[in-house]
Amino acid sequence: MTTTITLIPGDGIGPEISSAVQKIIKAAGVEIDWDIQTAGADVAQEEGSPLPQRVIDSIKKNKIALKAPVTTPIGKGFRSVNVALRKELDLYANLRPCKNIKGIKTPFDNVDIVVVRENTEDLYAGIERKIDENTAESIKIITRKASTRIARYAFDYAAANNRHTVHAVSKANICKFSDGLFLECCKSVSKDYPQIEYKEILVDNLCMQLVQNPQKFDVLVLPNLYGDIVSDLTAGLIGGLGVAQGANIGENCAVFEPVHGSAPDIKGQNKANPTALLLCAINMLKHINETDKAQKIENALFRVIKDGRVLTPDLGGTATTDEYTEEIIKNL
Ligand code: NAI
Repeated sequence: MTTTITLIPGDGIGPEISSAVQKIIKAAGVEIDWDIQTAGADVAQEEGSPLPQRVIDSIKKNKIALKAPVTTPIGKGFRSVNVALRKELDLYANLRPCKNIKGIKTPFDNVDIVVVRENTEDLYAGIERKIDENTAESIKIITRKASTRIARYAFDYAAANNRHTVHAVSKANICKFSDGLFLECCKSVSKDYPQIEYKEILVDNLCMQLVQNPQKFDVLVLPNLYGDIVSDLTAGLIGGLGVAQGANIGENCAVFEPVHGSAPDIKGQNKANPTALLLCAINMLKHINETDKAQKIENALFRVIKDGRVLTPDLGGTATTDEYTEEIIKNL
């Protein structure tokens, strides 16, 4: 059966790694009809918006999207396409699985952490103002609705993926009302999942323990800001940007995207690493129940990395994106 999936090739290295991932998926025998939707700076010039309505409509229709990075101008220009997409589609859960890949040297082995970050509120709600020249304020919004929804997502994920523990992360000793409410919601949801251990931890203590003993953590659920920071920390634990995958999940659709940006410094040089986008695609295939094919691609990818002969420069090799892609295809 052919599934239609929206593909946003992005810009910078986005089109190169998208094309690599499309080739690998096709070689694995998965029938996908890619609904290709451009977005970003070039589109803004041609169509007046970096995220035209057709992109939103396509994702709403297909319910699934694979998205490569899109450049965001810093300090000026249009608003981040990524943030706008999350808001337009109410993609309330940001999922970042961080698991060691054999062959990539990291300080720790056996890291297998899933970060579940609330994606819609907290200090990212955008309610801030300058009071006068010397004072500014940002409002941290935490609601029962969003906290319960993300806690439910984290526990459902844990239950469906044979996970044992969910840690709710906060700074409720200081932010007693806002983070206190977040914890209250997590604790209340946890009662519906007696098979999963529920624990609470303060975010500062968590960071310290993550860099000393990351193996003791399983699923983490966090409000937006702590989730943003901690998920980059956990990405660092497993080898950094080139291998860090992510997904933004809503009630009706899901957008799978790597953590890294558009890497303009290596654009068009045939040396971008498509691994993070490929891991996103593998997760996406599992999401649409193409589990066997997803596993087949994952096995081939991990074999190539463990073997270590054909790797892109960021992983310490000399292979081009094309050579690395071909090597994965050979290993399917
Ligand atoms: P970046 O992640 O694009 O690059 C940081 C460094 O990592 C660069 O040296 C780059 O060459 C390297 N790198 C990143 N991905 C790589 C890959 N797949 N293979 C090999 N090397 C890789 O971060 P930067 O430079 O801060 O951002 C560039 C642009 O990307 C900005 O406009 C930023 O706003 C945007 N961005 C977009 C994201 C998205 O669309 N989801 C996420 C993060 C940033």
